Amino acid sequence: MDNQQTEVLPINSLAPDPSIIERAAQLLCSGKLVVFPTETVYGLGADAFQIAAVEQIFAAKGRPFSDPLIVHIATLETLETLVREIPPHALQLAQAFWPGPLTLLLPAHARVPKMITAGLDTVAVRMPRHPVALALIQATGSPIAAPSANRFMHVSPTIAQHALADLDGRVPLILDGGPCEVGIESTILDLCAETPRILRPGGVSLEALRTILPQVQPPSVRSSQQAHETQAQQAPGQMLVHYAPRMPAFLFEGNIEVLHKAILAEIQKRQAVGERVGILLVDEDLLALQNSGAFVYSLGSIDALEQVAARLFAGLRTLEEAGVQVILCRSFGIQGAGMAIRDRLLKAAGGKVIYV
Ligand code: TXA
Ligand code: MG
Repeated sequence: MDNQQTEVLPINSLAPDPSIIERAAQLLCSGKLVVFPTETVYGLGADAFQIAAVEQIFAAKGRPFSDPLIVHIATLETLETLVREIPPHALQLAQAFWPGPLTLLLPAHARVPKMITAGLDTVAVRMPRHPVALALIQATGSPIAAPSANRFMHVSPTIAQHALADLDGRVPLILDGGPCEVGIESTILDLCAETPRILRPGGVSLEALRTILPQVQPPSVRSSQQAHETQAQQAPGQMLVHYAPRMPAFLFEGNIEVLHKAILAEIQKRQAVGERVGILLVDEDLLALQNSGAFVYSLGSIDALEQVAARLFAGLRTLEEAGVQVILCRSFGIQGAGMAIRDRLLKAAGGKVIYV
């Protein structure tokens, strides 16, 4: 698998060069994989209707076939070709949030390859709002199946270099459109359940969804606590170690002053035995923690949660690249973008929360 030349092609995010899009679309049409930017994270795309191409996605990522893929579309007409029916709520939501970071779980049409749905009766569909993604889907003339462009279980890539680090030699082309604006994956909303429920919090908040559909339910506690070996793969992205960095991470929760003291104590304890510690925090924590001797990555201000979300995966990868042996993270509330941020941190920590 590791035997291809991977080309990284810069592309203008706002006005993608049609000749570059054409080249990438030709690769997809001929059954090859292309990594492309979306507004959430980079995707590893294949023509959704070429099964041999879709199969390569799983091989390149090292992903089990039990984990279904999101299908990316550029027009609402394409949605009709992928689903058996469009529930009334779906159109309202599509109108409000598409193109954008919302994935809808809908009843799958029989023509959708089983490899995409992992044999489930539902298909996950989203219309991304990144101009490169939209242009690529249009030029390919087929919906694009794409998971995040990382090796299975690793942190999702928000810049082309992170996708390259994971997939070098495994894909022919990476379109480099710069950093992803949202930086966290799409919200997955199950519209096949009796009551619409979020399966994975993401780029569209619960509050925003409720302005259109007040009955939307937050992720079930069970799904956010689910162990890795779950068979109930309703949203296998809920697996607790899904977004993990390569070293152990711990999430600290509690009142801010106690939290700072607890993190400091943990840093000192680990430094005493020669461990290199990384901490993921916000600007407001710097005064208390920046002179601790730990490698510090700030996600920005606690008052700018969208920015925190956008920097989160880059933060985890930066600490990883810095060679720290453990990552200590501060936690976030669940309001607005906080729900998705907390979810990803919990997964990065593999469920290891320290309540102070
Ligand atoms: O923002 C995103 O959603 C990014 C960009 C590339 O669009 N994609 C992404 O894909 O995060 P992936 O494969 O890394 O995560 C998609 C999640 C997986 O955990 C998968 O299990 C779940 O969606 N999923 C896909 N189809 C499903 C289905 N039919 N039922 C339940 N879960 C599904
Ligand atoms: Mg993923």
